[in-house]
Amino acid sequence: MESLKHHDPMPGNLGNRHLRPPLTALKFEVVRSEIRDHHSVRIQQGEVHVGPEPQQTYLRSCVCVGFYHSTLHVGALSHLTGFSEDGGHGPRGALRELECGLGRYGVRLRDCECFVVGGTDAARHVYDSAIRELRHLGLPFRELDVLGAFHRKLLLNPADGRLELFKKSQSDSPEVAPVTPDPSLACFHDHGRRVITGASLLFRNEALLQYLRDTVIPSVLNSSARCHIWCAGCSTGMEVYSVGMVALDCLDQYSHGKFELRILGTDISEEALAQGRLGAYVLTRQAESRYASLVQRYCERIDAHTIRIGPELRSRVSFNQRDIRQGSHRHRFELVVCDHVLQYFTPEMQIEFLQGLRTGVGAGGFLFVSSPSNRIKEALLADGEYEMLGRNFFRRNWATPAVH
Ligand SMILES: C[S@@+](CC[C@H](N)C(=O)[O-])C[C@H]1O[C@@H](n2cnc3c(N)ncnc32)[C@H](O)[C@@H]1O
Repeated sequence: MESLKHHDPMPGNLGNRHLRPPLTALKFEVVRSEIRDHHSVRIQQGEVHVGPEPQQTYLRSCVCVGFYHSTLHVGALSHLTGFSEDGGHGPRGALRELECGLGRYGVRLRDCECFVVGGTDAARHVYDSAIRELRHLGLPFRELDVLGAFHRKLLLNPADGRLELFKKSQSDSPEVAPVTPDPSLACFHDHGRRVITGASLLFRNEALLQYLRDTVIPSVLNSSARCHIWCAGCSTGMEVYSVGMVALDCLDQYSHGKFELRILGTDISEEALAQGRLGAYVLTRQAESRYASLVQRYCERIDAHTIRIGPELRSRVSFNQRDIRQGSHRHRFELVVCDHVLQYFTPEMQIEFLQGLRTGVGAGGFLFVSSPSNRIKEALLADGEYEMLGRNFFRRNWATPAVH
């Protein structure tokens, strides 16, 4: 078990202590092994989640403030990026959302154990502002001080109060270990890329791939002879190829070899797109285990850890440099994907991005847009043009005219 610092900023002034569960029930553990898959709710950047079910978030450089109520077995996690003060990106907004969420279970923030998990040094200011905010609210917290550039997953299971921090590093001394080189976090130097990170992963978004397999492909097979997909803000192409492998596999299962599958990847970063055109990647553990059969079928091995996308998929993929806000001028797609992009921008800019994305969605087409602000959801649902089919997943009605 990791040793914990425990701060109690206002020890004599915490209200109805007798109604509160003990503040030491949480069992925190650093798991120094590979990050495993878990069935749990996954919280994306800038999001919070409150509930009794297991919940997880991949932190990388970001910061998490979480809560746990040990008698009601309710947990709450946030994923603070510091990119904006909007929603759950900043500590103040996240704490407000966590308070509301816990309120639905009749629980106050101060009734829970609170913990903070640090990010990298680059996010030190986020960590510091979270601590300031908690102190300002007079909330005691445990500081799980694990600052460092690791690939980390935090998993909270409110059923038994276990909070596990999985670290990818093999080191015995994680706080001082050298950073494990991660090709998906490579530094890009071109101008557009300065705006935000280009971090990406193969098979990154399980929910998206599930929607593609279970909803999009069966639906387009019924109504069309083609499936054209636009991955907007696709970075180095890993999203494009992951979507492509799942779609090809699905079509294969339905024996639809003649069905036209095409995938367009766009990004503002020419440097990222060049890597996409190259189509060579280091395999992640997840790709090697969970998606081994797809990797084997659609990729070629360069060496033990590196693959190159094979010709069957490559021939269906193209890349173009484009700002999402420019939209799609002529082409309408059966599926438009915009994952891990909007959360870096203000709600006003998200609306501009949304306008661009909407120009690409054909009648009856699907839109997957991760971490949209409430304004985005409202804008999509307001005039009845779209219906929401799942988390971050929308469908444009058949009857409505396209946005230009
Ligand atoms: C975090 S990456 C997400 C990559 C991929 N969608 C994924 O989820 O793995 C965000 C990408 O958005 C791109 N981006 C940022 N602003 C953009 C814009 N206005 N138009 C197009 N791409 C943009 C960045 O260059 C970066 O590659």
